Amino acid sequence: MNNTFTHTVGALLLALASSAAWSATPAAATTPNAQLIRQGEYLARAGDCIACHTAGTKGKPFAGGLGMETPIGKVYSTNITPDKKAGIGDWSFADFDKLMRTGVTKHGYTVYPAMPYPSYSRLSEADMQALYAYFMHGVKADPTPNKAADIPWPLSMRFPLTIWRWAFAPTPQPYKVPATGDAQLLRGAYLVQGLGHCGACHTARGVGMQEKSLTDAGNTTFLAGGGVIDGWSVPSLRNEHGGGLARWSAAEIAEFLKTGRNSHTASFGAMNDVVAHSMQHMTDGDLAAMAKYLKSLPPSNPATPAFVADDKLGKQLFSGIVNSTGAQLYLDRCAGCHRSDGKGYDKAFPALAGNAVLQTNDPTSAINIVLSGGAVPATRTAPSALTMAPYADIFNDEQTAQVVTFIQTSWGNRGTPVTAAQVAKVRKLSVPVEASQTEATFAAGRPGTFPPVARKPHLKDAPLK
Ligand code: HEC
Ligand code: HEC
Ligand code: HEC
Repeated sequence: MNNTFTHTVGALLLALASSAAWSATPAAATTPNAQLIRQGEYLARAGDCIACHTAGTKGKPFAGGLGMETPIGKVYSTNITPDKKAGIGDWSFADFDKLMRTGVTKHGYTVYPAMPYPSYSRLSEADMQALYAYFMHGVKADPTPNKAADIPWPLSMRFPLTIWRWAFAPTPQPYKVPATGDAQLLRGAYLVQGLGHCGACHTARGVGMQEKSLTDAGNTTFLAGGGVIDGWSVPSLRNEHGGGLARWSAAEIAEFLKTGRNSHTASFGAMNDVVAHSMQHMTDGDLAAMAKYLKSLPPSNPATPAFVADDKLGKQLFSGIVNSTGAQLYLDRCAGCHRSDGKGYDKAFPALAGNAVLQTNDPTSAINIVLSGGAVPATRTAPSALTMAPYADIFNDEQTAQVVTFIQTSWGNRGTPVTAAQVAKVRKLSVPVEASQTEATFAAGRPGTFPPVARKPHLKDAPLK
């Protein structure tokens, strides 16, 4: 972010700061009914509040303290339990609603957009009430105090965030179901654009770190891929070839969100958290709605050709004809699980032939998974956390480049070749998967177990393109 710019604009516009008038809804006098609290819990899962508002495996649920890197320093999530002193126990519904829709806290300052309020601003009035009921009555109060951000003065002054909000956050309008339209599609759009905040990772960001689009209206940037987060590329979720979801059916998308795997791929990186803490808890109806909505998004790159399977190479490898070092390394180290024809073993070891990870000119994820390995998240309906071991200590940069070039360009895959220099760059970000990332940690539903470092939900590392 260009801080000088932000500050100049900030200083100029600060004088114009107007007082926002908020109609205060009186706080409910009685404890809301159990059904409303349960609905709020479901919505809190849809919004994945726990992933950011809990400090890893040892933190108390929703007690905050998870550090997130931003371009200007580390920001910590806050305690959102109903503790009156440390948490939000003395917030009225109006205070909560205002924060969720505009990022402005009860104390009058604007939060860092690491909190995805531009997406949450789309919540319906009824859903916001349920969410509030859950945080006031369904969550255990915890006295853990908030941590101050590690951001040096003057960058720690929060007024530029007010300007950011004016420039980039939408005017909040509680969602109302339109009178006409496909109800399932509308429900899917509401969840994906709103609580799901899928665009926080899957939409590219502009100069001010703002998401280029918050809805699909009038653009093809929405969910068209979000660059690199924590050393993993975030793919397009549009119905397109070249890294998008064109080859997946709506049912396969829903299956992936629920179980972290399907016959095309297995989840890794930040998506593991999304599956483990959020998506696996959604109803089948909501998953189907989200999948239908994603399938409805037209391609941002209509000219990109489809993957066409080529089985020549698989047959050659199978009969022992090996034409490159990359192919030899693949046969020795990888084919046991992913097979010489690249077709893998359904829902256990993902297919590499046609895999969306291997169809673009951004090889970051492919390099990283070879260096770091990976573990599929264990979920209630698919409890085995199958792992791939890290190869960081087995392959040097050149060998890694050779084997990744091989998988990027074989069996009809349309990915680009990889250099040792690109591998060296990703090696710096690599966090090898640990044996402790077992089924038990995921099954216990503990947040922050993967990757075992502080998440950086909004930071983009330099893309390799
Ligand atoms: C991607 C990470 C992320 C997610 C997901 C997230 N938050 Fe936050 N939230 C933050 C961060 C970081 C802050 C603190 C920002 C700051 O201090 O400027 C915050 C601040 C808040 C605050 C202000 C608290 C205070 O004391 O000022 C509330 C309330 C809140 N979040 C509620 C929620 C709810 C409810 C959800 C789920 C629907 C949620 N958050 C999901 C990162 C997140
Ligand atoms: C915190 C960042 C983050 C958020 C939020 C997020 N994702 Fe992801 N997603 C990723 C990353 C990183 C990958 C790449 C790893 C993988 O394919 O598993 C990914 C991959 C995926 C894939 C697999 C695509 C492919 O071609 O292999 C789907 C489908 C997906 N996400 C859907 C969603 C949906 C729907 C949401 C919102 C409910 C969402 N994601 C929210 C980070 C995120
Ligand atoms: C023991 C079996 C095994 C071996 C050997 C193995 N893998 Fe994997 N591979 C997996 C599993 C399991 C996943 C899913 C990991 C995850 O989701 O985090 C995976 C995922 C991948 C992915 C990402 C695809 C996706 O959709 O998740 C790529 C690329 C990959 N492996 C390449 C390789 C290469 C190259 C080698 C050899 C250097 C190799 N694998 C060796 C089991 C294996």
